[in-house]
Amino acid sequence: MKDLISIDQISAKDIDLIFKTTDRIRKTPVKKLLNILKGKIVTLLFYEPSSRTFSSFCVAAKRLGAQTLEYQNPMQTSSAVKGETLEDSIKVFENYSDTIIIRHPEIGTASNAANAANIPIINAGDGAGEHPSQALLDLYTIRQRFGKLHDLKGLIAGDFRYGRAVRSLLKALCLFKNNLIYLLSPKELSLTDKDVSLYRSQGLKIFEINLEKDIPKDCDFWYWTRVQKERIKNKTALNKINAPYLSTSLLKEKGNKKMIVMHVLPRIDEVDKAVDSDARCIFMTKQVKNGMYVRMALLKLILQK
Ligand code: NCD
Repeated sequence: MKDLISIDQISAKDIDLIFKTTDRIRKTPVKKLLNILKGKIVTLLFYEPSSRTFSSFCVAAKRLGAQTLEYQNPMQTSSAVKGETLEDSIKVFENYSDTIIIRHPEIGTASNAANAANIPIINAGDGAGEHPSQALLDLYTIRQRFGKLHDLKGLIAGDFRYGRAVRSLLKALCLFKNNLIYLLSPKELSLTDKDVSLYRSQGLKIFEINLEKDIPKDCDFWYWTRVQKERIKNKTALNKINAPYLSTSLLKEKGNKKMIVMHVLPRIDEVDKAVDSDARCIFMTKQVKNGMYVRMALLKLILQK
């Protein structure tokens, strides 16, 4: 029984195992993977919209021979409409399935589900909390390019206040030595001082910047994120936010040859589509594909006896 709720549960050694499993899965012919989770049922319970996380977990399960029970929008389609508690729904679904993958708008829901359940629960995003499988696929993408997860210099840009994927990514980067991260965001979307101190105390070097002109030219990776508009209640304040923008000229001015450019996706208006044709921008290609492979590895490790 292995839940995946937060990066806090994971060590560098676990990440190594997950990535070695991912490497093996990537190299195995498709047909040979189909027996790995044959007969298993994976339930996807997504109370918030999702394209990549939902479909990559779904496809990951199917590519390993499992079948899926899929709820997109359970607030309209499940007994949640009638007022059934999340705990009760989880207790019911665990009778039918081997694991439940849950996404929910409130922080802590995945953890509550894990407390209620006797089968593994995977957090696919809990409000502004965490998104551990996303951080793992991001790290895997970095490791694929540089062959290491330590001694890296990176830029993360966008929304640290409400973005759950960056929170998990920063926690994951803390697990490896000597990483230096520039955080580019407007003040309204910066990390809390408490979080900055926490990550620093775990060995991550953090520089907070507010302007594109302060990006150093020698980053190994850039990681862009959108503003999480749906989590910002004050719409007047939201309209005043000046989020970092990735343009071809910024890439030309501050980028370098060896770097990669990632994005958590979805991209809204914070990245110019013209950068997509640049070979360093792998957010629509390798990064997305790795999401499926890393999630296959997670399901294999969690479900295979
Ligand atoms: C992210 C999420 O849902 O947290 N999307 C994703 O899973 N790739 C980021 C976002 O919505 O901005």
